[in-house]
Amino acid sequence: MMDSLNVDVALIESYLDRLYVIGALPGGGAWRPVYSLAWNEARQAIRGWLEEAGLAVREDAVGNLFGRLEGVEPEPVILVGSHVDTVYAGGRLDGALGVVGAIAAVRAIRARHPRPKRSIEVFVSCEEEDSRFVCDFWGSRALLGQIDPAEAERYRDADGITLAQAMRQFGLDPRRIPEARRSDVGAFLELHIEQGPVLDREGIALGVVEAISGLNRTAVRVAGRADHAGTTPLAMRGDALVATAAMVLAMRGLAEELGEPARATVGRLDVHPNQPNIVPGVVDFVVDSRHPDRALQQRLLAEVQRRCENIGKSHGVVVETSVLVDQPPTPMSPEIVALIERVIERRGWSYRRLVSGAGHDSQILGRQIPTAMIFVPSRNGRSHSPAEYTPLEQIIPGVQALADAVEELGCT
Ligand code: GLV
Ligand code: MN
Ligand code: MN
Repeated sequence: MMDSLNVDVALIESYLDRLYVIGALPGGGAWRPVYSLAWNEARQAIRGWLEEAGLAVREDAVGNLFGRLEGVEPEPVILVGSHVDTVYAGGRLDGALGVVGAIAAVRAIRARHPRPKRSIEVFVSCEEEDSRFVCDFWGSRALLGQIDPAEAERYRDADGITLAQAMRQFGLDPRRIPEARRSDVGAFLELHIEQGPVLDREGIALGVVEAISGLNRTAVRVAGRADHAGTTPLAMRGDALVATAAMVLAMRGLAEELGEPARATVGRLDVHPNQPNIVPGVVDFVVDSRHPDRALQQRLLAEVQRRCENIGKSHGVVVETSVLVDQPPTPMSPEIVALIERVIERRGWSYRRLVSGAGHDSQILGRQIPTAMIFVPSRNGRSHSPAEYTPLEQIIPGVQALADAVEELGCT
């Protein structure tokens, strides 16, 4: 057996620190929405690190970045990485850890195997979070050739800018999106924080993901009638926000009825005209619903729509729903899961299998490419918040295991 690979701990810490400054918000946390200045600044920093690591860097038609270590066999390629974008006021590690961990892993591999058997590439996905456009795993769908270029004209951010316009600001031509498609990838590995409490609570070093939950996002438009807040009798109102309030509570009740691990969340509301002295005329909101069982995911989705429509009727407002995202649960590759477990056992670390409640690029790529994920603990399970935290000593085993697994896949 070969000696263990050693990843560069100081480098990992300094790269994570550097990324967390980019897009930092005054109130804490960072925001690097796709095709923003902060997003681009982070990509430029990462591009430099990929070059310093001796990798051949390439950008695709949507702005995904790749850093390639050329193997004896050009394909199939082993891909390793995560996303560079963040949620609004996101933490230090969501996405960033998987990118930095991949660079550290491939650097360590290159030091020992300047020309590995297979080609290995760091993948920096341009968009995973839906934090600016609800565009449904833009980076990884592009890689699989699953984006219709017309989608880029359809999605708008909160300021009304289309995704196509946002792309053009960075010299990316939406008509070329199909060129991002790859068919030379043989495996994908992603390191991530758990974003939930299980590993932390159980004191287990690492999680090996066996499946990723199904995910839906449903847009709901509630149309009532804007009226004077002081003069309009309650019985004469078509208050879109009062109806919406009932729907928000109903979504919570629905997930409770279905039981763990069903989820239903309303995290975003847009109230029109959003004035203190006007009865709200229109509310737009998004229901994020999730379940790891496809049949229950679909039942949950159908109930989201049905309950919103029924509540709308009883409040005398018009409800329209449209499903923006429908991603089924994705099992991870049993072979790569077993390989990851072997490398963790060799190191003597504790681990357990987990189902990811969070969405990941692995959920998309895993449907066509053998894929697996490694989780490190999240302190108190906190994530999608500046409170996201994992101490470096708990991060390093994840990066080591990633490096070991990629080395086995790429070099033996
Ligand atoms: C992505 O982080 C998601 O699970 O929403
Ligand atoms: Mn996230
Ligand atoms: Mn993530």
